Amino acid sequence: MSTTPRDAHFPVAHLRPPHNWVNDPNGLVFHDGHYHVSYQYNPYGATHANMHWGHFRSPDLLTWEPLPIALSPTPGGVDSDGCFSGNAVSDGDRIVAFYSAHREDRSFQHQPVTCAVSHDGGQTFSPREETVIPVWPEGCTMYRDPYVWRDVDGWRMLVGAALADGRAATLLYDSPDLETWAYRGPFVARHPEPIGGTEELTGDGWECPQYLPAAGGQAALIFSTWTEPTGPMRVAALIGEEHDGHFKAGAPVWADHGPDCYAPALLRAPGGRWLLWGWSWEARDQAWAVAGGWAGVLTVPREIHVGGDGTLRQRPATELLALRGERTVQAEGATHGPEPVELGSVGRAFDLTARLEPTGTAGLRLLTTPDGSEYLDIRLDPDAGELVVDRYHASLDTRAHGGAYRMPCPTGQPVDLRVVVDHSIAEVFLTSTGQVLTLRFYPTGQGAWRLQARTAPGTRFRYAVDAWELHPLVIKTPTAGAAEQY
Ligand code: FRU
Repeated sequence: MSTTPRDAHFPVAHLRPPHNWVNDPNGLVFHDGHYHVSYQYNPYGATHANMHWGHFRSPDLLTWEPLPIALSPTPGGVDSDGCFSGNAVSDGDRIVAFYSAHREDRSFQHQPVTCAVSHDGGQTFSPREETVIPVWPEGCTMYRDPYVWRDVDGWRMLVGAALADGRAATLLYDSPDLETWAYRGPFVARHPEPIGGTEELTGDGWECPQYLPAAGGQAALIFSTWTEPTGPMRVAALIGEEHDGHFKAGAPVWADHGPDCYAPALLRAPGGRWLLWGWSWEARDQAWAVAGGWAGVLTVPREIHVGGDGTLRQRPATELLALRGERTVQAEGATHGPEPVELGSVGRAFDLTARLEPTGTAGLRLLTTPDGSEYLDIRLDPDAGELVVDRYHASLDTRAHGGAYRMPCPTGQPVDLRVVVDHSIAEVFLTSTGQVLTLRFYPTGQGAWRLQARTAPGTRFRYAVDAWELHPLVIKTPTAGAAEQY
């Protein structure tokens, strides 16, 4: 009898089905005591095609139950070539999912809005035969991805768009009953401009807009930037205030500073809490992922809010603390280098907290081969005032992508980090600022992984590091109806 070895890069504490392609989180809604998470899913392979909505639900963000596929293209129907992205709302005993109806005989850039309704807690959805919003406003060169939310006196919807005058936009609609929608004009429309003081631009069009309404402070509009000819790029946000259907905001900021987070989506949880999941795509050659039979993973759920200082702040959902197992690293000390300090071993999935106080460049190294030739670096660059996550040496396999990525980091004070690593994904949270950087990496080493504190010569580096083993999510055995689709 042969057993297939587990794929060394397959995450265990991050949500995704066992096989096939996954992209955007969709239809995030809390309904009848459960968090529902759908996602763009190709049930037939590990490439982007045949988009369905796969579906999980959970009472606690830790134990997940695969439900039958929520949305499937209807042959000959308005969505015959794909149920593209959108969200869902809980309305009494129903879940109403709004999504982009894809047909290849329409322009790829234009997907009208349609919807499907579930009366049985998400076990089955009945798609509407006609689209909800069949035509896009004049002058739209791109149109897709509805986001619906309940407002004081009805419902509102944003749709991602690009306009013929070169501005990217989100378009605003409202409805008294989720059935009849009136177009109110662009909520925001802006020419490409730099994000977060970097050289990267907000793009030609915006996909998957998400709205985090103000809770006493400012509101946030989160969007995924899309540019010709590359397509999907990065995730950004505008922080501001709505005035009469128009969102007034300052300069765009990053919603995630890493290269591998896209199309993040919001869930309004009980008690005024907002959660966000992103799609973390593969950062390796496509043939490698296809050979493994899977691609894409959702980030951990993150609590998100706009702070009193007007910044977008994220951290892992509190529930994830329950996934912590044995503490394998507990190290505190100071070094001047040049020799690295061994901090201890970690498993392939771990949750780490660190307080770092360097006087110059210093940081943590995750070594993934016994000889130390393969490693992921997380270091502070006080001169630049940045935290750097460097994956140039994170895989000995040349099919893995390299690069070093940065996020601003106040220096001259202790820096608090929380890092969640799970086989091939690292989410680095800068606790002091609430900023986050997501990236994928593909270690090849067979032995134990270990952590080091490292510092440039002449730099004094104080550190306190704790790391816990991260238990897998509990994925329940799917019911017969759900099992055949996964
Ligand atoms: C974003 C996106 C959406 C679209 C979906 C298709 O990643 O391109 O705009 O609805 O994915 O899978």
